[in-house]
Amino acid sequence: MIRDEERIVTAKKKEEDRELDRTLRPRYLDEFIGQEKVKEQLRIFIAAATHRRETLDHVLLYGPPGLGKTTLAHIIANEMGASLRLTSGPAIERPGDLAAILTNLQPGDVLFIDEIHRLSRSVEEILYPAMEDFALDIIIGKGPSARSLRLELPPFTLVGATTRAGAVSSPLRDRFGVVCRMEYYRAEELCQIIMRAARILGVVIEEEGAMEIARRSRGTPRVANRLLKRVRDFAQVKGDGRITAEVADRALTMLEVDELGLDEVDRLLLRTLIEKFAGGPVGVDTLAAAISEETETIEDVYEPYLLQLGLLQRTPRGRVATWQAYRHLGYPCPTGRAAAGEQKELW
Ligand SMILES: Nc1ncnc2c1ncn2[C@@H]1O[C@H](COP(=O)(O)OP(=O)(O)O)[C@@H](O)[C@H]1O
Ligand SMILES: [Mg+2]
Repeated sequence: MIRDEERIVTAKKKEEDRELDRTLRPRYLDEFIGQEKVKEQLRIFIAAATHRRETLDHVLLYGPPGLGKTTLAHIIANEMGASLRLTSGPAIERPGDLAAILTNLQPGDVLFIDEIHRLSRSVEEILYPAMEDFALDIIIGKGPSARSLRLELPPFTLVGATTRAGAVSSPLRDRFGVVCRMEYYRAEELCQIIMRAARILGVVIEEEGAMEIARRSRGTPRVANRLLKRVRDFAQVKGDGRITAEVADRALTMLEVDELGLDEVDRLLLRTLIEKFAGGPVGVDTLAAAISEETETIEDVYEPYLLQLGLLQRTPRGRVATWQAYRHLGYPCPTGRAAAGEQKELW
C-alpha cells in the first residue's frame, strides 16, 4: 500500500517542498495568484485596519491542503508590516503553552495557528478572552480560595487555518471577524502559478507545457510546483531541458499521474469501489479497510478532489462511484447509473 506521504500528487507538505516553499511563496497579495474573493476580502480589511491604525481582525482560513493558507498568513503579516509567529493546534498541548505564547507577543504581531481545529477544549478557553479582549485569565490557587486574575495582552491578530471547517467549534469560529474559504484553483490560474515558479527557478517552459502540468495538478498550487520540478528533471535528462506540452505529458505519464491528476491510489480507491462493492453505496469505513487506509485519510486527502471532479459522491448510505468514474477508468457503465446520468450520450 502506498502511503499518502509517498505520493507525488499528495496535497500535504512533503520534506522536498521545504526548499520550494521558501523560494516560491508569494510575499504580498499582488503576487498571490487566484482566490480573488479571498484577496478582495483581505484587501478591504487590511486597508481599513491600516487606516485606523488598528490591528487587523482575527482571520480564519479554511480549505483543502496546499491551497495557500500558510502563504496567506505570511502575506497578512507582510501587508500589515508585522511579525509572524507560527504554531499549530497539535503543538499547543496545555493551556500554559498557549499562555506563554500569548504573553510573549509584541503589539501588532500576527499569531498563526495551523490546524486550529485540533486545539483541545481547555486550550481553546484561554483563546476566547485573548481574542475578544486581549486578556488572559489565570486562576491562582485551588478550591474555595482560588482567585481569577486578568492579565492584559498586547493587541494582536490571530490567523487560524484548518482543513476541516466543520471541526472548528462554533464559539471559536464566532470569534473570527474574517472567515475566508479557499477553493481549488482553475487550470488557467495554476498555469500562471507554474509560469511564475518556472521564472523564479530558471526553468524554460512553454505555455502549453505549463497548461499540461496545470491540468494534472488537482487544483492545488503545492502539487503544481512539485510536478513542475519533476517534469523539469525529466526534461533535463530526456531532452534539452525545455518543457513543452509533449515533454510534460510524457513525464507525467511516466509518473503515473493521469489526465485528471489522479494517481495509483485514487484509481485503486475507485476501482475497489467499482469492483468489490458494485460501485456502492458503501460505508467509508468499509472502503477504507478494503484498501488498508485510514478513514480520516480517505476523508481528508483522497475524497475532496474526487468529489470535486464528480467521480465520487457522498450519500447518506455511503460512497458511490459516479458514471464518470466508470468511464474514466474504462469500465462499461452499469445501466442504472447511465440512466441516472444526464450526459448519457457521451458514452
Ligand atoms: N496563490 C498562489 N500563488 C502562487 N503560489 C502559491 C499560491 N498558493 C500557494 N502557492 C504555493 O503553494 C505552496 C503551498 O502553499 P501553502 O500556503 O503552504 O498551503 P497550505 O498552507 O494551504 O497547505 C506555497 O509554497 C506556494 O509556493
Ligand atoms: Mg499550511
